[in-house]
Amino acid sequence: MAKKAPSLMETIVSLCKRRGFIFQASEIYGGMGNTYDYGPLGVELMRRTKEAWWNSMVTERADVVGLDSAIIQHPKVWETSGHVAGFSDPMVDCKKCKGRFRADKLEDARCLERPSKQPGQCGGELTEPREFNLMFKTQVGAAEATSSTAYLRPETAQGIFLNFKNVMDSARLKPPFGIAQIGKSFRNEITPGNFVFRTREFEQAEMEFFVHPDEDVKWYEYWKAKRFAWYTEYGVNPDKLRMREHDQSELAHYAKATADVEYEYPFGWGELEGVANRTDFDLKRHSEATGENLLYFDPQTKEKYTPYVIEPAGGMNRTALTFMIDAYEEEQLEKDTRVVLHFHPEIAPITAAVFPLVKKDGMPEKAQEVAAQLRKARFTTFYDEKGAIGRRYRRQDEVGTPFCITIDGDSLSDDVVTVRHRDSMEQDKVKISELVTFLIEAKSNWKRPEKKE
Ligand code: GAP
Repeated sequence: MAKKAPSLMETIVSLCKRRGFIFQASEIYGGMGNTYDYGPLGVELMRRTKEAWWNSMVTERADVVGLDSAIIQHPKVWETSGHVAGFSDPMVDCKKCKGRFRADKLEDARCLERPSKQPGQCGGELTEPREFNLMFKTQVGAAEATSSTAYLRPETAQGIFLNFKNVMDSARLKPPFGIAQIGKSFRNEITPGNFVFRTREFEQAEMEFFVHPDEDVKWYEYWKAKRFAWYTEYGVNPDKLRMREHDQSELAHYAKATADVEYEYPFGWGELEGVANRTDFDLKRHSEATGENLLYFDPQTKEKYTPYVIEPAGGMNRTALTFMIDAYEEEQLEKDTRVVLHFHPEIAPITAAVFPLVKKDGMPEKAQEVAAQLRKARFTTFYDEKGAIGRRYRRQDEVGTPFCITIDGDSLSDDVVTVRHRDSMEQDKVKISELVTFLIEAKSNWKRPEKKE
């Protein structure tokens, strides 16, 4: 029987492990389901994804500042925010295989029996749906008897609301202004899956933008457009992106309106990021629960008001996965096929690879010098002297390195190297003294190539 070709998701999972992007967590103990560790290339990809978000949301703006709040907050925070009572998904049990599944995502779930089917298709009866709270509980305090229950945060947003006053006063801000943070969140998902798309611990990037209540609609539209554009700026195919407005029945307990940036994954359309109009819900609730004044007083108009909040909230693991899926191509060349990741150069885990053409005649030493120069200029640089030059190019294409630099015999006398571009495979001759400037320019001139489907 002919072997079935792997799906794009299977290919990506296997590439991630083989090249050191993402590994199964606790692998040598048999693995921990739906939990992942990031290897050398994965950690660089995540770091750059977060940096690209931070640059656009904080560094390039005068009206947004950063924050890093605690993962474990006072347990009452989550009662006030509505998460203890309402942060749940509907769950069903299969009476035959004893599996537990998210009732509204049965099509994404697989039955525990083999060959695995969609829940219910194994002939087992499914129970009526019941609500399952997604928050992870933990104990704070050394002695169990006297310790108190606390929660791992299910969103980073609440830490921002708790510090609204601290930040506004200390940074001397007035609406409209935003507070951004990136950090881990935890959800005891009933049906995690699709690799790192849905996991129980993940990195969120959220920004709460505080505005005058009369300006919420304007800013909601602004952030929807801004966030959608961010993905295309980093090279994601616009034909695979869409903005989907939630209908009333889908809205979270705190939201007046929400729209998702969605991507067409190999497993169907999925949420990449949500932009929500959270109104004054959170600040008012925390103010009522604590007695703290969380109003803004406008000294010019003498008006006192609770700001409305527009929140763009994305997942960094999901974004990095999307960059990878979208960048992947098996490109048909004249004689063979090459696997290439067309990452935006700011996102690629390795920016430059340096090769001596051959491992002799002083070329390795010269190449090491060039590599050291690039590292000093803060380019993540990989040095490789093993194997045929063509194979070395292919290994870098597969991990998305935008520039390969080759030192040949002539380089020793004329100080000129060859820069080979990943997407076009075209080559340029560049003087070593001009290499850093050349690469900076090539990075900023990068355009998403038309992929041949
Ligand atoms: N503060 C609003 C909030 O948390 P959300 O839509 O639940 O909104 C925001 O989460 C983003 O976090 C999602 O768009 C997604 O990218 C990411 N995310 C949520 N749950 C996730 C999970 N279990 N695994 C990976 N990423 C997740």
